[in-house]
Amino acid sequence: MTDDVLVVHGGTPLEGRIRVRGAKNLVSKAMVAALLGDTPSRLFDVPNIRDVEVVRGLLGLHGVKVTDGEEEGELVFDPANVESASTDQINVHAGSSRIPILFCGPLLHRLGHAFIPDLGGCHIGPRPIDFHLQALREFGATVDKRPEGLHLSAPNGLHGTKFSLPYPSVGATEQVLLTAVMAEGVTELRNAAVEPEIIDLICVLQKMGAIIKVHTDRVIEIQGVPKLHGYTHRPIPDRIEAASWAAAALATRGHVEVLGAQQADMMTFLNIFRSVGGEYEVTDLRPPRHGDAGQEGGIRFWHPGGELKSVALETDVHPGFMTDWQQPLVVALTQARGLSIVHETVYEQRLGYTEALNTMGANIQVYRDCLGGTPCRFGRRNFKHSAVIAGPSKLHAADLVIPDLRAGFSHLIAALAAEGTSRVYGVDLINRGYEDFEAKLADLGAHVERP
Ligand code: EPU
Repeated sequence: MTDDVLVVHGGTPLEGRIRVRGAKNLVSKAMVAALLGDTPSRLFDVPNIRDVEVVRGLLGLHGVKVTDGEEEGELVFDPANVESASTDQINVHAGSSRIPILFCGPLLHRLGHAFIPDLGGCHIGPRPIDFHLQALREFGATVDKRPEGLHLSAPNGLHGTKFSLPYPSVGATEQVLLTAVMAEGVTELRNAAVEPEIIDLICVLQKMGAIIKVHTDRVIEIQGVPKLHGYTHRPIPDRIEAASWAAAALATRGHVEVLGAQQADMMTFLNIFRSVGGEYEVTDLRPPRHGDAGQEGGIRFWHPGGELKSVALETDVHPGFMTDWQQPLVVALTQARGLSIVHETVYEQRLGYTEALNTMGANIQVYRDCLGGTPCRFGRRNFKHSAVIAGPSKLHAADLVIPDLRAGFSHLIAALAAEGTSRVYGVDLINRGYEDFEAKLADLGAHVERP
């Protein structure tokens, strides 16, 4: 197999401190938003991950000059010369990320047309884009699906509309926001997603001059404006990465402080973490004063010793338990006494990774039924989307192939928790969403090496 492999000598608790930067699922969208401004934008704390590289490449192709700012992790976007790119150039990025779909609205506003390559992203089910395309058509765009990708145009401009999402999709909500802010008239979006990353994107757009009201009951109203300017923004920290390290601390019986982690965005995770028997302490930011340097805020997560307890949880849209928290936490649940139940209600096929955990000694059964929670869209539709985890199980080393980003991180945690030496193939996929994860593992005392 490839040399994209990490050798993991497991069985050592992770101990130490790491820092998370801007949330992958906000940063990439804020970068797209920079296209809408007529003056430069400045984004701080941008992690060095593959999704950022892809968006940077696409912005560059469309004439946005992207440069590194003075601060580490700062990017500056100059949209003064936005221009069309050829389909061949754009197609270099085909299959590399899902973010390109969000270029539709901004490119239509700036150029009157857009070409979107085949999307990539994690293989966690079919991941259709029907809501996106339906919304864009409602705004007045024409969408031409061709073998090489999507061609869009807006011969009569884009106009505000009333639209209700069949499901509160994060991406489709962002699509509507990025399109409605400069569409003529008012847009009302019902059944919108309201994840913290979306609220942060709304903050970015508001800084640019947009008028966006978030009403109760997931209704967002956007009043289109003819012009937006650049923004300066420090993004919310990555709550998925923070939870992943927390789960790693729990599964390895360790102690990890995640600087930058924010309690408010992780409340649901923290409740489950505590129910399982993990402990945490929130350390609030203390600004510098009287000559002392102050202290960065974060959350310390640890395994207090003894046995973990089983839980029942279901993934959901915000403020529910995030689907991306599920995979890392399940590894820790293999160490909990009794039966834990996980009902995945956001994606229909996001439990396939549990097979690899079973080869390591875990005892996880997956079911088609909606177990332990309210019936969801996937019930009686032949999707194995509920898991029962019987524990505690002693995990042993294995050779693993990483299937997608979050499942990949869970494989890594399992290898770290297991006795013996595992080989984890395809680890470069983890760089899509976890900045410098190998350096962080080293900081936490993990015994890992590239062969
Ligand atoms: N859906 C449709 N049609 C659409 C769009 C979505 O049926 O047009 C369905 C999806 O198939 C899925 C559900 O709606 O069953 C939710 O999908 P959503 O659109 O909310 O997901 P997304 O925007 O594609 C983002 C994150 C994911 C995260 C989900 C849910 C980014 C780049 N990705 O995806 O993050 O799991 O929201 O919170 O923001 C990850 O970071 O590893 C990741 C997969």
